Amino acid sequence: MTDILARKPRIALLFGGRSSEHSVSCVTAAGVLHAIDRAKYEVVPVGISREGEWSLVDADHEHWSLASGTVPEVPSGTGTLRLEATRGSRELVSSDAGRSPGPIDLVFPLLHGPFGEDGTLQGLLELADVPYVGSGVSASAIGMDKHYMKVVFEAAGFEVGPYVVITDKQWNRDPEAALATAAPLAYPLFVKPARAGSSVGISRVDDPSGLRAAVEAAREHDPKVVIEAGIAGREIECGVLEGRGSDAPRTSLPGEIAVAPGAHSFYDFEAKYVDGAAAALSCPAELPDAAVEEVRRLAARAFDAVGAEGLSRVDFFYTPDGRWVINEINTMPGFTPVSMYPQMWAKSGLAYPDLIDELIWLALHRRTGLR
Ligand SMILES: Nc1ncnc2c1ncn2[C@@H]1O[C@H](COP(=O)(O)OP(=O)(O)O)[C@@H](O)[C@H]1O
Ligand SMILES: [Mg+2]
Repeated sequence: MTDILARKPRIALLFGGRSSEHSVSCVTAAGVLHAIDRAKYEVVPVGISREGEWSLVDADHEHWSLASGTVPEVPSGTGTLRLEATRGSRELVSSDAGRSPGPIDLVFPLLHGPFGEDGTLQGLLELADVPYVGSGVSASAIGMDKHYMKVVFEAAGFEVGPYVVITDKQWNRDPEAALATAAPLAYPLFVKPARAGSSVGISRVDDPSGLRAAVEAAREHDPKVVIEAGIAGREIECGVLEGRGSDAPRTSLPGEIAVAPGAHSFYDFEAKYVDGAAAALSCPAELPDAAVEEVRRLAARAFDAVGAEGLSRVDFFYTPDGRWVINEINTMPGFTPVSMYPQMWAKSGLAYPDLIDELIWLALHRRTGLR
């Protein structure tokens, strides 16, 4: 370990990817490419196309920023890179002669959604024995799956809102019977692909006539669908950063998402990325001290409940009668400099470049394999 830190660690930034959050990931990469300390780290920028091809890409942050006026995207059809899954190879190999980036010390997966944030990539990195930023295989998989995440949180004593799950087999066998399982849930309902993000495929349904179409829309993104009763409450989020060594997780000041009444009935994709005026992110959230303490304690517990590592953002609903209903944990939360997670840490005294540094430090000091 000390030998890696004595020289410049070679860090592969992975971004883009196969999920619907491809471009969000590219914008995150712009932020990290801009802020990462090149005097301390050698950066190897690796773009993953929507088809899953890996290639060495432009290291200039401006190429990937939204300021360029277009939505950034890793081009398809140019992939030449691969990571050997052989134990200990730790090598990025190119099929273009003489273009192999060679050995890497660490991977920073700036990927959201399936095939990046869900444990699949983490599995490849474990096989290759390459350390990486963030959660391992099982925590990533649990954090991606809005069904199993709830199972784990319920078992850990969290308040989880009422929900049902419709699997692909259930739906194919008898859609009417599957829809009927949602009858006990009070409207409005939120219908979600079990494993997606950025609100993609999520619908709010105000009466039973809209339920079938909402399930079909969610199934466009994932054959497994979660239907939840709507929770009335404020949306409060808290950043968690793994402690060094055997230290407990650190938590940020909480932030709040307030969706302006009007065009958006919830924090949907447009409100997140398109319609800047639709939602206000505020940090610190205006809460009594005792509530701040409570949500920070719960966020750290949620991090430990799924066995998360590195970073997570934990999202709650704070009900008018003062209950904390957990909504989700994100093991690779939005990570542009203006995203909630980095903003909450900035307000808590850890600036974006220092946050990147800390995540790299944690990853370089974490072993691969069972831990
Ligand atoms: N059970 C619910 N009750 C009320 N609002 C919800 C519920 N589930 C989701 N929402 C709204 O939808 C948004 C996106 O849902 P979420 O589960 O966080 O999905 P994603 O992983 O895509 O962020 C939330 O930020 C919130 O505004
Ligand atoms: Mg969310």
